[in-house]
Amino acid sequence: MNEAKLIHGIGRSGDISAVQPKAAGSSLLNKLTNSVVLDIIKLAGVRTVTNCFVVPMATGMSLTLCFLTLRHKRPKAKYIIWPRIDQKSCFKSMITAGFEPVVIENVLEGDELRTDIKAVEAKIKVLGAENILCVHSTTSCFAPRVPDRLEELAVICANYDIPHIVNNAYGVQSSKCMHLIQQGTRVGRIDAFVQSLDKNFMVPVGGAIIAGFSESFIQEISKMYPGRASASPSLDVLITLLSLGTSGYKQLLKERKEMFSYLSSELKKLADIHNERLLDTPHNPISLAMSLKNLDENNDAAVTQLGSMLFTRQVSGARVVPCGSVQTVNNYTFEGFMSHTNDYPCAYLNAASAIGIKKQDVDIFLKRLDKCLKTFRKEVKKEETVDEISNSNTGTEQLED
Ligand SMILES: Cc1ncc(COP(=O)(O)O)c(C=O)c1O
Repeated sequence: MNEAKLIHGIGRSGDISAVQPKAAGSSLLNKLTNSVVLDIIKLAGVRTVTNCFVVPMATGMSLTLCFLTLRHKRPKAKYIIWPRIDQKSCFKSMITAGFEPVVIENVLEGDELRTDIKAVEAKIKVLGAENILCVHSTTSCFAPRVPDRLEELAVICANYDIPHIVNNAYGVQSSKCMHLIQQGTRVGRIDAFVQSLDKNFMVPVGGAIIAGFSESFIQEISKMYPGRASASPSLDVLITLLSLGTSGYKQLLKERKEMFSYLSSELKKLADIHNERLLDTPHNPISLAMSLKNLDENNDAAVTQLGSMLFTRQVSGARVVPCGSVQTVNNYTFEGFMSHTNDYPCAYLNAASAIGIKKQDVDIFLKRLDKCLKTFRKEVKKEETVDEISNSNTGTEQLED
């Protein structure tokens, strides 16, 4: 009875991917989901993936599980090499696993923030390869950071015999991110890549896919999960993918890409009108950034005010990044937090084209953003007029004096 209602959940105490004969329904569901999801990863661009499983934890915790699995293989290791990405769960995934993140600052190339490959290699030489658990790289991220140089990192990992875990949080929806992973494994080493269910398949938060190229390593990770687990994330993604079908999912990927181009060209026009700039970040296939330089220069608080204005107008996807914010996460202080670097040249606003987006969403966003920016321009004009009047008054007083 319970089995028929899928109450048992997935896995057995020794392995989250194992079949439980007493719970045929849940076991079948688990197997089916993992193979459907494997197929989708192939379809999305990582053709040579060999194994994957859905785990009922979000991206950060799933990365932690990967690091904990590597711990047994590399008992001496205590460091994780991590090209900086300003997202707290990425950083905390390493701390929670008990490792010391070694932050590699990004380099500014044009407007883009890119992986400093030389700094990665230099750090490996200083620390010693055997003391390093892995390189933890990232594909999908907020512009102006762009996906890591995965191929070069993968080659370094192969050369120094260091594992490589890729955070592909919302990368399944982008053929470019998936291509990077495919290329990385072709030329070098990638041990596992992790992607969020909600960010790629429009299901509720709570699941991720851990995938890789070595069946045995992915199995080791699934055996690391202590106990059984909730079947809900697997059920959600299975229902979603069965109802979409391959063609439905492909269609969503196509629409997302088209909407990215549309958002990009329209945001550029809007930026020009407001005397700002769409930052040039051609390597980022999902996220865009528009400068808020003039807004910031005219009014210190304007950038954060714009953020809250957009939020109250139900524009929840956009985020504003002011200059110079400092944040301490687990005793590590990040200068310029949110911008992926200590001192990005200007404040900016992010917008993204994520799976499921419609033209109407882009249009509403641009309309509301335009309105908010106009409000600021009016305020600046009002202040300038008040200043002019008070300056001319001061002038009169001086004359009278
Ligand atoms: C690049 C990146 N990695 C990881 C995460 C964290 O994901 P989760 O909440 O699924 O752990 C996010 C969240 O937005 C992200 O943008």
